[in-house]
Amino acid sequence: NGRCVVAVDGPSGSGKSTVSRRLASALDAQYLDTGAMYRAVTWAVLRYGVDLSDLEGITKVAGELDLAIGTDPTAPHVRADGVDVDADIRGPEVTAAVSAVAAVPAVRQLLVGQQRALIESAGRIVVEGRDIGAVVAPDADLKVYLTASADARARRRSLETTASVDDTHADLLRRDTLDSTRAADPLQQAADAVVLDTTAMGIDEAVARLRAMVTA
Ligand code: C5P
Repeated sequence: NGRCVVAVDGPSGSGKSTVSRRLASALDAQYLDTGAMYRAVTWAVLRYGVDLSDLEGITKVAGELDLAIGTDPTAPHVRADGVDVDADIRGPEVTAAVSAVAAVPAVRQLLVGQQRALIESAGRIVVEGRDIGAVVAPDADLKVYLTASADARARRRSLETTASVDDTHADLLRRDTLDSTRAADPLQQAADAVVLDTTAMGIDEAVARLRAMVTA
């Protein structure tokens, strides 16, 4: 069980979280959901009433936040300033605001530093996000870019929430655009990433394929 870092990037609804958690369990590795970190900072920004246009205020909240991110793939709990935020960070308010917070360079710099430290101490870990293969862990052992058609992604996401497929579709496209066009570390496919399209692929098959690539 030596060092092994797997980077999984891709847009929302691509199956990233489910596949990454299952892969981490299969590899007896830890799991890091970097999106949950951006969501927790966003939760704090909203909680402390900081305006989304107040970049200094957002940066200050991020710097002072006590963020505890769990890396157990079977129960990756998140605490922010001592509060269990597992449910709140998936809610509509945070989801609507997170892309704006994640576009602030100082926030990214801070979280990327924390992510690198977590990866370093874990040694064996599956890390999911938008910029993992390109920025956070450019020397990962395996880089995966998980994708799926916008329709398939919206259908999957709407099953996880109470929102309609149409609303989810609109929200996904809005976040895709914001996440891929921002100046700081946009969502990108690393040049050396393996691309896996899960539109017509089940979770089991995706996990099995990636597992085979790690052990190969
Ligand atoms: O993956 P998830 O949907 O939880 O990510 C929430 C948001 O966090 C994304 O829409 C993106 O704006 C941001 N994010 C990011 N970089 C990462 C992970 C997430 O900018 N590595």
